Amino acid sequence: MLTISFRTDRPSDARSLALPIAKDEPVDGHVPAELVDIARAASASFSGEPGSIVDLHGRVDGAVRRILLVGTGADLAAEKAGGALVAKLLTSGETGLVIDVTGIDSAHRANFAARIAQAAMLRSWRFDLYRTKLPEKQKPTLTAIEIVVGDALAAAEAAWAPLRAVAEGVDLTRTLVTLPANILYPETFVEHCQELRGLGIEIEVLDEAAMRKLGMGALLGVSQGSIREARLLCLKWDGTGGKADPVAFVGKGVTFDTGGISLKPGPGMEDMKWDMGGAGAVAGAMKALALRKAKAHVIGVCGLVENMPDGNAQRPGDVVTTASGQTVEVLNTDAEGRLVLCDAIWWVQQAYHPKTIIDLATLTGAMIVSLGHEHGGIFANDDALADQILSAGKAVEEKLWRMPMGKAYDKMIDSPIADMKNIGPREAGSITAAQFIARFVDEGVKWAHLDIAGMVWASKPGTLWDKGATGYGVRLLDQYVKDVLEK
Ligand code: BES
Ligand code: MN
Ligand code: ZN
Repeated sequence: MLTISFRTDRPSDARSLALPIAKDEPVDGHVPAELVDIARAASASFSGEPGSIVDLHGRVDGAVRRILLVGTGADLAAEKAGGALVAKLLTSGETGLVIDVTGIDSAHRANFAARIAQAAMLRSWRFDLYRTKLPEKQKPTLTAIEIVVGDALAAAEAAWAPLRAVAEGVDLTRTLVTLPANILYPETFVEHCQELRGLGIEIEVLDEAAMRKLGMGALLGVSQGSIREARLLCLKWDGTGGKADPVAFVGKGVTFDTGGISLKPGPGMEDMKWDMGGAGAVAGAMKALALRKAKAHVIGVCGLVENMPDGNAQRPGDVVTTASGQTVEVLNTDAEGRLVLCDAIWWVQQAYHPKTIIDLATLTGAMIVSLGHEHGGIFANDDALADQILSAGKAVEEKLWRMPMGKAYDKMIDSPIADMKNIGPREAGSITAAQFIARFVDEGVKWAHLDIAGMVWASKPGTLWDKGATGYGVRLLDQYVKDVLEK
C-alpha cells in the first residue's frame, strides 16, 4: 500500500527527490547546488516533455541521493508526471519518494499537488491477490510519497480529498473488472458493493423472482443458461437532501459472456470476464460520489447476469417479452448486453423517473473496430447532454467520440415475428445496438449510451494504469456530476 501525504518543507533525509520541470525550463533553479553541473549534463536532451524523466544520482549534503527531474510540459501535466514517477519507482527497490512542487506558482500549486497525488495513487494500483509466488523483484517497494507544497499545505489537502475519493472509486471498479468470473458473479458483485452502505449509499437488490414478477424476460432470458442467479443492483446517493431530481447511471454487468448458444470462439474468450465493465464503472462512480459527498442525486443501476450455454439456455430464434411489454426475437444470444440494459433501463424509469439516463456498456466488438482503444463511443438523443459528457471526457482524458443515430438505422432491427430483433446486419453493429436501447427510453428522457468495449481493459500500460483494468468511466462520470449536477 502506498501512503501519500503533504508537507510544507523538504525532509532533510530524503533519498529520492522528484522535481517537476516545465517545458523548456532550465533545470538549474530547482536542483541542489552540488548537482547543478551533473543535472545540466544529464538533461541535454530533456525539454520538460510531460512525463519524461531524467534520473540522477549524486552527493548532496553528505549523502548519495537520487534526483528525478520530471517534465510537466507547457500546462502542468500533473497526471503524466505523477504517473511516470510511480511507474518508474514502484518496484525499483526505492521505498520512499519526495516530490517537491514548491517550484509551481502558488496559484496552481495545491491543485497540481493533489493531481500528482491522484495520479500516483491510480498508477500504483495492482492486483496481486492470486500471485502467491511473485518474484521479489516484481513486488512493489514504494510505500510512501511525500509531496512538498510550502505554504499551500491546507489548500493541497483540501484539493486532495475529492480526488482521493475518485481514485478510491476507480480502485473499486478495477477490482471488480479484474476479479475472475468464478469469483465475481452477480451475487458476489452485489456483496462487493455492500461496503458502500457505510458511505451513505442506499442499496436495493432485485433477485430473479422479483425480476420475473416485473416481467423482465429479456434480462432473465440471458441469465437462464447460467447456474448463477441474476441480480439487479440499485445504488442510491442523494447529496441534495431530496432537493434534486435523480439522474440515472445504468451499467451492463455481464460477469462472463461466453456468447451463450451463439458461442464465442475460444481464443480471447477469457476477456469476457470484464464484460461487466459498465456496471463496474457505475459502482465505482457511486463510491466516488459518496466518498466526496457530492451535492447531487444519482441512481446507479447494474444489470448483473452471466451468459452461458446450457441445456436451459435461450436459443437463437427465441422470442422474449421485455418488462416494457415490447417483444424481441433473439437471433444471436451473444448480443446479450442490450437485452440486459433494456430491462434495467425500463426498471429505473418506472421506479425513479430520471430525466437523464447515461448507460455504460462493453456492448459491441464493432465499437473497437471503429474507434480502437483511444475513444469510447457516445450515442445520445440530446445534443446538450452529449456535449456535456464529451467535455467531461476531455477534462479527465477519458475520451469519447459521438456516433450517429437515426430512423434508417432503427429500421435495421425490425423483426418479422416480434417488435424487434436483437441484432442488425453486419454493418453499423454499434449503432444498431444503440438503436435497440433507444427503443426502451421513455419519451422526453435525455439519454446517452457509452459503448466502452475498447476502454475497460488495456493491453499495455497507460499514464494512470498498468496493463489490465483501467477503471474507465469513473473519472468521466464524476466529472459530469461535478460540471453539470453540482454547478
Ligand atoms: N461483450 C460483447 C462485446 C465485446 C466484444 C466487448 C469484445 C469487448 C470486447 C458483446 O456482448 C457481444 O458479444 N457483441 C457481439 C454482438 C453481435 C453478436 C451482434 C459482437 O460485438 O460481436
Ligand atoms: Mn455477447
Ligand atoms: Zn457481452
